[in-house]
Amino acid sequence: MKILILDDAEAVSARAAGEIASQLSAKPASVLGLATGGTMEAVYEQLIALHRDGRASFAGATSFNLDEYVGLAGDHPCSYRHYMAQKLFDHIDIAPGAAHLPLGEAEDPAAEAERYEAAVAAAGDIDLQLLGLGLNGHIGFNEPTSSLASITRLKTLERSTREANSRYFPEGEEPPRLAITMGIGTIMRAREVLLVATGEAKARAVAQVIEGPISARWPGSILQMHRQATVLLDRAAASELE
Ligand code: F6R
Repeated sequence: MKILILDDAEAVSARAAGEIASQLSAKPASVLGLATGGTMEAVYEQLIALHRDGRASFAGATSFNLDEYVGLAGDHPCSYRHYMAQKLFDHIDIAPGAAHLPLGEAEDPAAEAERYEAAVAAAGDIDLQLLGLGLNGHIGFNEPTSSLASITRLKTLERSTREANSRYFPEGEEPPRLAITMGIGTIMRAREVLLVATGEAKARAVAQVIEGPISARWPGSILQMHRQATVLLDRAAASELE
C-alpha cells in the first residue's frame, strides 16, 4: 500500500482527480470504478475542472459505480444514479451508455447484482477503482463481516451507515436497508485502487484499515493485500496512524 498524506482535503481531492486524469491519458479506453458520497463530491468537482481545461477526456472510457440503494428509482434525488448525473456525468464527455450503475429499482435485485458482476467482468474488470471509506471501514457497501472474497450482491446496511447517509435524505425519509454493491473480490480484481479519506471522523477507520490486522471486521483492510493500492489522506484522516 502506498500512503500519501497531504495537508488538507482540497489537496487530496486535487491529487485524486489528477490520478484519474493521468489514467485516462495513459489509457483513453479505461474502465473506471467510481464511488459516491461526500468525499467524492470534491474529487468530482476537481475532475470536472480538469475536463473543462482539456486535461481529462472520458470520451473513450467506461465506468462502473460501486453501489446503489435497492428500491430507489434512478430519478430519485437520493439515488446514486442521480448523484452521479448531478455531480459528474452531466458535466463531462462520457458516452451515453458507457456509465453503469446497478439498477436500484430492478424487479429482482439479486438477479440484477449477478448481471452487474457479469458486466464488470465482461468489460475486462476495472482499471482504476476509486474508493471512499465508511466510518466502519466499509468499501463500497461491503459492511463489516462481508466476505473478503465476495462478488456483487445484495447487502444489508448497518445502522451506522444508514445514519451517516441519512443527511442526504429529506426529513422523514430514511435510507433503504438494502443496497447492491460490488463485492470485495470484485474490487480486489481492479488493476489499481485509489482509496480516499479526509477529515478527523475517518481517522479511526483509516488506522484500522492501514495498520490493523486484515479482517472482515474492517473490510478496507483487505487492500493491504492489493498490489497497486494507494491511500490518499489529509492530515486529519491520518491523525491516528502510529
Ligand atoms: C459510496 C460508497 C461508500 C462511501 C463511503 C464514504 O458509493 O461506496 O463506501 O465511499 O461510505 O462516504 P463519505 O465520503 O460520504 O464519507
